[in-house]
Order: sequence, then structure tokens, then C-alpha cells
Amino acid sequence: MLAAQTDDIGTAVRALGNRVRCSVPFPGGPLLHVEPAGSAAFGDIDEFVGWLDRRRDSVDDLLTRFGAIRWRDFGVRDSRAFELLVGMYPALEQGYTGGSTARSRIADTTKVFEATKAAPEVLLGLHQEMAYLPTYPSKIFFYCRAAAQTGGETLLGDMRRYTAMLPEPFVRHVEQSGIRYLRNFRSLHRPIPRDASERIEFIHMAWQEAFSTTDPAVVERECAALGLACSWEDDGSVTTYYTAPGIVTHPRDGGRVSFNVVQSQYAFLDLLGEQWWRSCCAQYRNGGPPPPYYVEYGDGTPIDLDDSRVALELLRQITIYPPWQHGDVLMVDNVYTAHGRNSYTGERDVQVALIS
Ligand SMILES: [Fe+2]
Repeated sequence: MLAAQTDDIGTAVRALGNRVRCSVPFPGGPLLHVEPAGSAAFGDIDEFVGWLDRRRDSVDDLLTRFGAIRWRDFGVRDSRAFELLVGMYPALEQGYTGGSTARSRIADTTKVFEATKAAPEVLLGLHQEMAYLPTYPSKIFFYCRAAAQTGGETLLGDMRRYTAMLPEPFVRHVEQSGIRYLRNFRSLHRPIPRDASERIEFIHMAWQEAFSTTDPAVVERECAALGLACSWEDDGSVTTYYTAPGIVTHPRDGGRVSFNVVQSQYAFLDLLGEQWWRSCCAQYRNGGPPPPYYVEYGDGTPIDLDDSRVALELLRQITIYPPWQHGDVLMVDNVYTAHGRNSYTGERDVQVALIS
């Protein structure tokens, strides 16, 4: 364990008191584990949530320090109990609107969503939620209703460590000009190009599905509400544009960290095939629609694919795989800690709440 983390554990124990036990399961990694100190430490979920609420400031401090906190064996037995806990914090108003995949709300809850619909064999790499939108969650809470048979961990990575490892000229360029995100939503009526991978359908969402409408005016209204510019392309698709800072200041302790998804550029090229990707990019440069996701510097300069590849490799290097147990609640600081999802087998039910 790092010396600084030994100090941090001391702080955690002092802040939370003797009804709980704290540990750091991945030394040097972004996770504080908390469990009850005795078998009857908490009577029920109401008692636990009340206890937590009285220590909210300390919990927020610890979340900033460690980047993520996992609460185990506190009697969070179902989605309603999870929602009670989530209710301590304000929900992100936009929910998953504008996110990269459609999500459904869990029945009988107002703030709890199902986890990603990505196929079990897919590993979703580390990312900060909605880093490509003007408004994003400050925290994400996860709840494990059922752990997968194998794999299925919610991956975590320390973005303070990652930022320190990024190539300096790249960081400087982002600081100076920000990152511009273009997202293209195809028209449902345009056939999928035959030379593209079959995964294109999942990645290149149709605007009719992404915005749940057949009315272009609704798309324009929703984009405006999210703070995105949009324009219709000749092929019936729609492109949204947004320039983000790319590096942000943490609201609690003022730390500066990378907050963007530049790694996606290389990941998509890898996933969809280089030939198709390059022809899409060439089309875009000639005035056509961009690929489903396209990232460039805020000044319009293309990002070197090597920088995008390095970012992706660094993210893989810092990834930890904390296993789930039924009833676990995981709080993640969305600025300091990136998350992802491991591939899995069996039934997995991990639910999510976005905190403003
Ligand atoms: Fe995510």
C-alpha cells in the first residue's frame, strides 16, 4: 500500500467511526472498501442510509480522495433500497438522454437505470460518463443485484494517474483548444454499408431510436436542451457538435485531470475496421457526414491516431477489476475515476444512478 493511502485509510476510519471497517483492496488503485464492523452493526437499510446521510460530507471527502467507495453487506437487497440511498444526492436531470446507448429505467424507481445493453462478450473500456456532453454526472452509483458467473466487473481506473502519464504535447494542445466531439446518428432508412462490420448497427445509432422520435424538430429541440449544435446531412443523418474543455478542474479539491474520450477514436477504428474508418474520415474531410463518433481538437486539427492509441493503452494499463457481490453499492467520482465493464458469462444485473 502507498504511504499516502495508509494516511487516507486513517482518515477514513476517523471519519466513518467504529461501526465500519475500511480497507484498500487494490493498493495504489482507486477504491476504498467499507463493510460493517460487526454482524449486527446496522438493523436495516433505513438505519444505514440515515447513518450515511449524517456523514455525507465525510463520504464526499473520501470519494474525492479515493475516487471510488464500495459498500458491502449493508443490506441493500433490491433496487428500491438502492434508490433510497441514491436519494441522498440530487439526480442528473437529463438521465441518459444524449448518452451513447439507450437505457431503460428500472420498474418502480425514478432514478435507477439498467446497466449497458452491450453484449456479454464485449469489454467496455474505461471512460468518464458523458465526458462528450456539456452536462455530465459528478458521481455515478452502481448497485449489484446479481453478479455474473464469471467476469462482469465494473472496471475502474485512476484518472489522476492517467493524466500524469499522458504525452505532454498532447495535454498542452488539449489545454489550449479543448476537444470537439462530432456524433453522427444515421437515418433508420439508410441501409448499413455492406463493407462495414456488423457491429456498426450497435455503434451507429439511428436518430429515430436515439431520440425516440420520427420528428426532426424534436431532435433539434433535444439537442438544444443538451447544449449541442446539430445539422442535417444530405443522407438523412444528423450530426451533433460540441467543443468541451477536455481537461477539467475537480469541483471539490481543484485537481486538474483529463476528461474526454479521445481514446474512442482508435478504439472505433479497431472495432469497425481501418478501411471503413478511413473512408468515413475522408468523406467527412470532403464535406460529407462524419463517422458515428469523431473527435478532433477544438481548433479543428485532427488528433493523431497515435495519441489516441497511447491514451487507450494507458487506460488499459491502469484498469482494476473489483469483483461484484450481490448487494454491493459502488460510488464512483466521475471526474477522478473512469469506469468500464468487463465481458462476462451468466446473468448479470448491475444497476446505475447518475448524480448531478
Ligand atoms: Fe459508462
